[in-house]
Amino acid sequence: MELIHIEEGRREYLVPVSSIKGNAPNKSDEVFFNSYQEINRDISILMLRAYQIIHAVDSIKICEPLCGIGVRSCRYNQEILNSNLFSNDLNPKALAIFQQNISLLPQKSRKSIQLFNMEANQFLQHLNQEREIFDYIDIDPYGSPIPFVQNAIKILNFKGLIALTATDLANLAGVYPKALYAKYGLSHFDIRIGNIHEIAARALIAGIQRIALIHNQTLIPILTFYHRHFIRVFFVRYRGVKKIISETGFIIQCKKCHTIYSSTIGKINTCSSCNSTDSYSIGPIYLGLLHDANYITKILNDPHLSNLGTNYLLKKLIKRIEEEIQIPVPWSFHIPNIADQINSRLPPITQIMNLLKNKGFRCSRTHFSGSSIKTTAPLSEIITILKDYNYK
Ligand SMILES: C[S@@+](CC[C@H](N)C(=O)[O-])C[C@H]1O[C@@H](n2cnc3c(N)ncnc32)[C@H](O)[C@@H]1O
Repeated sequence: MELIHIEEGRREYLVPVSSIKGNAPNKSDEVFFNSYQEINRDISILMLRAYQIIHAVDSIKICEPLCGIGVRSCRYNQEILNSNLFSNDLNPKALAIFQQNISLLPQKSRKSIQLFNMEANQFLQHLNQEREIFDYIDIDPYGSPIPFVQNAIKILNFKGLIALTATDLANLAGVYPKALYAKYGLSHFDIRIGNIHEIAARALIAGIQRIALIHNQTLIPILTFYHRHFIRVFFVRYRGVKKIISETGFIIQCKKCHTIYSSTIGKINTCSSCNSTDSYSIGPIYLGLLHDANYITKILNDPHLSNLGTNYLLKKLIKRIEEEIQIPVPWSFHIPNIADQINSRLPPITQIMNLLKNKGFRCSRTHFSGSSIKTTAPLSEIITILKDYNYK
């Protein structure tokens, strides 16, 4: 296999030439490396650095059960202080390249990476049997991370950090309702409500949290990040289940007056505007906060951000996230969809936001889409603004 040097995090790594030819890689590729996931690796480095500061963790024990050719693991080794890595992949050809990448690292860093060649769940179970406990676990599979959650949380420290990538966005966006139920436990996905990628992220979070709940564990999201073809969520692990159950429920749209509202598990769904019970719904889904402001501030203030290959894009997306935290509403309005439904022309998003603010509502942009907004205003206010715009 022909290899080529690339640069990430200010160091060089070897990757298959085929992986950087512009096409997104395929599951069937001999060895998998995705250069488009650089932003995923960059944000993971920043989150882990923020975690180390916030939790005052000096040295950090990391597990990457699906490590591929090891660019991510090597980057943790080089960009995170005092890291100790347990990295695994089923594919021996990927691990052979990983070995070559290790040999590119400074001599003294090499011994803090241990390589394993096992099936990921067997690897996690093996670590559990060996009583290994980790501060950070990074699950970066093809498709859904769900099959690995149960074994991963068993070896995650109390207040440990776990990050998971999902690339099965079609499932999460309700394109295949049976697969959505099978993987993530959502029993209702009647219509698309608001920005579909935010709904997908909330479905993913609920699916992951559900597995932790079975083990009396709570996973609190501290960053939820959508980009192109993946969603990445970072959680901190706590004990108990009450907090998450009270933040899990349904996003509902009234069939009579079209108001969007939410309802937690066990509540009777009545429209907050017209009291009708005739509704469309999506859920059970996570309704709580997607990000922790403390982490966002730490990331934006980290001088290492400027060293990263995706720093311009990351800064823009993280600043959007900083804005969206201000509006704790569990959905966004996707303006082009609303305009389509009422056959309206599309005013500039900033104009809609200014008009909503003038009416006393809070609103912000969202990183999920440049055409979606988060607001405390009801859908009817946005429709009124769009209709007024068409009469002018
Ligand atoms: C998306 S790639 C990982 C990329 C890597 N984390 C990175 O950032 O460069 C997924 C990897 O999982 C490996 N894999 C897939 N199924 C596996 C399994 N059940 N057990 C262990 N490894 C597996 C594949 O060989 C592939 O290298």
